[in-house]
Amino acid sequence: MRILGIESSCDETAAAVFDPSAGLLSNVVSSQVAVHGAYGGVVPELASREHLKSVLPVVERALADASSGRGEIDGIAVTAGPGLIGSLLVGLCFAKSLSFAWGKPIYGVDHLESHIYAVFLENPVEFPYIALLVSGGHTSLFRVEGWDGARQLGGTLDDAAGEAFDKAARMMGLPYPGGVEIDRMAREGNPGRYSFPRAWLSRDSADFSFSGLKTALRTFLGSPEGQAARVEDVAASCQEAVADVLSGKAIAASQREGIPRVVLAGGVSANSRLRALTQERGSAAGVEVFLPSKALCTDNAAMVALLGERRMSAGRFSGPELNAYAASRFSR
Ligand code: KG4
Ligand code: ZN
Repeated sequence: MRILGIESSCDETAAAVFDPSAGLLSNVVSSQVAVHGAYGGVVPELASREHLKSVLPVVERALADASSGRGEIDGIAVTAGPGLIGSLLVGLCFAKSLSFAWGKPIYGVDHLESHIYAVFLENPVEFPYIALLVSGGHTSLFRVEGWDGARQLGGTLDDAAGEAFDKAARMMGLPYPGGVEIDRMAREGNPGRYSFPRAWLSRDSADFSFSGLKTALRTFLGSPEGQAARVEDVAASCQEAVADVLSGKAIAASQREGIPRVVLAGGVSANSRLRALTQERGSAAGVEVFLPSKALCTDNAAMVALLGERRMSAGRFSGPELNAYAASRFSR
């Protein structure tokens, strides 16, 4: 089935066309970074309005790039949740209207699941695998048994990794989105210059916590040593603390579960230090590490179209009751 995917869960309006025999035919992302930058974070009401403006041109562009129209598209996949409810509703209502007008089936995709399977757009991974999903809203480890078999092993007790990066960047006076800025600044810094706390929790825990790091950073930046510090060194040391815990827990989960495959997913998995450290630790432990390209780590509709295709070709469709949901459906 050739699928049109639509994603609007946060601050990116995206559309893509995926066809299992031809591959990814188009992948269009319209970012709202310029709109939210002035506020230092995503403003939900502004995000919904931007999605309203962008959804039609983005979908038209994705269809044109894929030389596809009503006649070529066999189904529509759309992110149903979790995410910002107003943002989700824009993409969802658009997709439902198109499905009705075109007489094509629709499937509501879970945003976390779409991130977890995005790797298949580039690499067919053998099941089962461990997925580390790290984004602005989520930080979780999953055991993935098949196309409908993701089980959460652990999650964050407080902030998500991306949220920690973004808040840390704001404290350092770096612009939004902070994760990317910290990654950039850290390249010129010394990661061993300052030692920030790592919350390992209990030895076998697959859970995460970043609130201690945030407090430690705030205290440090207020101290005379912090005020004299080079921002590059602070960024590198802070990034090191996050990457250390994320990669360490992902490889530990893979060993505990006896699954020698780890997949990174979500916006934070674009982080260059996290990628390098996970790869390094994976090689040392005999674990194969899969790193999707950065454009497939951050929010996109290619992953939505891909998972929609898998589900619809297995006979699973959503009905008219399809609705958006804000909170994660995964629990441990
Ligand atoms: O998956 P995503 O695009 O949206 C959500 O579903 O949340 O993730 C966005 C998050 C933001 O917090 C952003 O700062 C972070 O991913 N991010 C990064 C990098 N690129 C994006 N964090 C660290 N290093 C990066 N290179
Ligand atoms: Zn996401």
